[in-house]
Amino acid sequence: MTRTTFRQYAFLAVLILVLAGSTGALLRFALVYGMPSGWGEFRNVVHAHSHTMFGWTVLALFALIWHHLPELTGQPRPRAARWQMAATFVFSLLQLPAFWPNGYQSTPIGPLNLPLGAMSAGFAGLTWFWFMGLYARAVWGVRARGLPLRLWNWAVVLLFIASLGAMAEPGLMVMDVDDPFVKTLFLHVFLDLFTTGWLLLGIFGALWAWLGKEETPAGWLPVASLAGFTIPTFLLGMPPELLSPGLFWLAALANLIVAGFVAVHFWHFWQRRHRLPRLVQFSMLGLAVQMGAAVMMLVPSIWQWGVGALRIFYLHDMLLVWASSALMGLLLAQFGNHNARTRAWMEGLWVLGVGLMWLALLAGGFASWLPLSSRTFLAIAAWASVIIVLAAMMALKLFWPWKEK
Ligand code: HEM
Repeated sequence: MTRTTFRQYAFLAVLILVLAGSTGALLRFALVYGMPSGWGEFRNVVHAHSHTMFGWTVLALFALIWHHLPELTGQPRPRAARWQMAATFVFSLLQLPAFWPNGYQSTPIGPLNLPLGAMSAGFAGLTWFWFMGLYARAVWGVRARGLPLRLWNWAVVLLFIASLGAMAEPGLMVMDVDDPFVKTLFLHVFLDLFTTGWLLLGIFGALWAWLGKEETPAGWLPVASLAGFTIPTFLLGMPPELLSPGLFWLAALANLIVAGFVAVHFWHFWQRRHRLPRLVQFSMLGLAVQMGAAVMMLVPSIWQWGVGALRIFYLHDMLLVWASSALMGLLLAQFGNHNARTRAWMEGLWVLGVGLMWLALLAGGFASWLPLSSRTFLAIAAWASVIIVLAAMMALKLFWPWKEK
């Protein structure tokens, strides 16, 4: 695989970001002015948006991992990685049209009634298992496991657990399980372990791989302990009425320990911030919020209020501000072309759009104490989302793989 191949992967990943981001922008405007008639139902389009967005993050992180793996293992990349990446792209993208009309419900196609959304998510999930299998074979027996490799090994374990949670969703539908506790439990195993587990450890690994051996600190950095304590934290995403006080305290204390471990990595990254791409520096804002939130969540009433009022802010802090900015920064630094003007504009618009949406979603949670209405904050978030999509479109130009000078 050449640099151009990786630039192609980056292009395809960002293409998914543009499409899922435009869908997100449509939803943002729908929250202010209502969904335009004939454009589908809000909840179904949210499923289409979120599932497709996961495609952006996995494709970007898979590309970074495949890129660095040979230098870390001393062995060639698996040949099938190319096909796995193609399959991940196709099935990630298919989720957009598959979820849009009916979400998780069935869609009549000729004589058949097919749950297209669940089917497409299942196929996309299978390509993740394919990645995990190829990755496990590639690192099997490697003795000198540097920090990035150890972080990725645990990230893959967490992706495996999260994928089982995702696979349980259609399974529960088939088995007609309607228990709200069981249903939301598996939903959050998937959503939260994907976000705070796989993406967090995976991106940490990609950052240490980018910084290289010379910049890797000699002392102890949490890896297995970070992964282990992350597992129970998915419980904090559950609706408060479904969680017993015992489970809440288990998750909240584990989350605090995770925040402490994240702070150790954060501190080392901060000391090396001048060697990190600009968008990675910006992404640290999202990570700092997660650490602060872990302390606030120790007060049950704040957690209960936050799960309702700040759920979408918290999710996008983690998935957009932290994960997407860091991934975009790493992709640009390694596979982007050298068009300095476009890059400066792209980065500026990204920081402006993402920062504005972040602020508007945060302020929206406190709207009842502020002089502006929550509708005003929703409108600001909607216009900010247009800026983000514009920035992502400009990034496509930076990864354009078919005309290299
Ligand atoms: C252009 C940037 C983005 C925009 C404009 C956007 C917009 C939205 C909107 C409007 C919602 C629904 C909010 C609600 O129900 O009140 C939403 C939900 C969601 N988005 Fe995004 N989003 C963006 C980026 C992302 C990214 C990068 C990811 C993941 C990598 C993501 C994952 C999600 C998830 C998981 C949900 C919640 C789904 C659920 O409630 O089932 N979004 N987004």
